[in-house]
Amino acid sequence: MSVVIVVGAQWGDEGKGKVVDLLTETAEAVVRYGGGANAGHTLVIGPQREKVVTRLIPSGVLHPGKRCILGDGMVIDPHALLDEIAQLREKGLLQKGELLVGHGAHVILPYHKLIEGLREEHANKHGRAIGTTRRGIGPAYEAKVARRGVRIRDLADAARVRALVEQNLDELNPLIAHLGGAGAVPDRSTVDRWIDDALAAGAQLQGLCGDASREVARHVGAGHHVLFEGAQGSLLDIDHGTYPYVTSSATIAAGACQSAGLGPTKVHAVVGITKAYATRVGGGPFPTELDDATGEAIRHAGGEFGAVTGRPRRCGWLDLPALRFGVRLSGMDGLALTKLDVLSELPEVHVAISYSLDGKELDEPPIDPDDMARAKPVFARFEGWGPIPRDAKDLVDLPTAARKYVEAIERWAGVPFHLVSVGPERQETIVLRDPFA
Ligand code: GDP
Ligand code: IMO
Ligand code: MG
Repeated sequence: MSVVIVVGAQWGDEGKGKVVDLLTETAEAVVRYGGGANAGHTLVIGPQREKVVTRLIPSGVLHPGKRCILGDGMVIDPHALLDEIAQLREKGLLQKGELLVGHGAHVILPYHKLIEGLREEHANKHGRAIGTTRRGIGPAYEAKVARRGVRIRDLADAARVRALVEQNLDELNPLIAHLGGAGAVPDRSTVDRWIDDALAAGAQLQGLCGDASREVARHVGAGHHVLFEGAQGSLLDIDHGTYPYVTSSATIAAGACQSAGLGPTKVHAVVGITKAYATRVGGGPFPTELDDATGEAIRHAGGEFGAVTGRPRRCGWLDLPALRFGVRLSGMDGLALTKLDVLSELPEVHVAISYSLDGKELDEPPIDPDDMARAKPVFARFEGWGPIPRDAKDLVDLPTAARKYVEAIERWAGVPFHLVSVGPERQETIVLRDPFA
């Protein structure tokens, strides 16, 4: 029996979905633990190279018969969840009894998205926007922490939902009017429609909701392999990321235990996922960012456009101070390196091995985001490596320059690689170690 947590080691979109899909093969249960539909995990499957994007449902869903659990620490837009369920069922996936939605998870309501959009527009005027996905994540977590949130379990109680929505809007309407003008404040019929829609979605979800923590404990107790799927990435963590340019949840490994109500003594391994370069969507410091033709070439070769919002992702060189920080925060004892193939066309590849700030050399990012923005990366340079065979199954199958790159990163990161991914498909993977072993 093994419990393995998969965590994004950077700013999200590292290829967590692909790795979770691979590791699910030997797992009995897969648990999403943080965030909500701000995540977009793309899987490329089968001879037709079919793309499936998961947002709320764990990426293990492509393997029939696996239990897919949404932890209580998530924030769930019930309509987004119903859409995702319908899309998966259309593909013949997600059979009856596979999905369990934690009834303690919080519900994203239309006013969360409204407020987030207005706030971002308002902040934009002052150059302070976070560049969120506008899926209502921040405002829903705010309501949760303020102890006014609507939980999935509440959707079964119409009177409770109505009372909570009224209480919330009583406080939020002045804010909505301040940010968006009186015309932005929802009228009676709009609020009634929001409540009716949430209750109708809740009724459709009812048979799928239950005690996620207990179900995770049951699997662990039965000696099953349980896989936790992280969303976002370590540097977007609410407590340890590049605050305020972060998401509103715990993205690091500890977040898995918190969300599922599982004690940390039950966890056996933490696998961090890192790309062979770095990307970031939205605002915030990004010391290795390439605002030039090389950045554009990486964006093009890597298809670096957001799965949720379609925004072009900012691209840059691999950032070892940031990676080391991620390794430390989650206690990662292994890494998966993805998208090595994307760098194939470049004549030279750089890696930031440290930062220089105010005459000091730093091996981890400075805590203050303004300091991080001022930090100058110190680069190591590697020769380019040309095409990577799609059927590479061992590091010796890689071009020598690519192998040197992989071995140097492994040494500098200080933890071994479990796998190296050289393409989006399942078989385009060099498997070195099994984290469940
Ligand atoms: P996630 O949010 O961490 O699951 O990552 P995303 O799915 O948002 O972004 C990763 C993208 O890279 C997806 O489109 C994957 O299909 C793709 N991908 C994953 N691994 C590889 C790889 O090794 N090479 C290439 N070329 N693409 C990959
Ligand atoms: P996956 O799971 C990349 C970023 C947003 C923004 C910040 C806050 O696919 O890796 P939010 O909507 O969460 O309040 O936005 O966090 N962000 C992500 N970036 N991948 C993600 O998820 C992200 N989820 C949120 O772009 O900068
Ligand atoms: Mg993504």
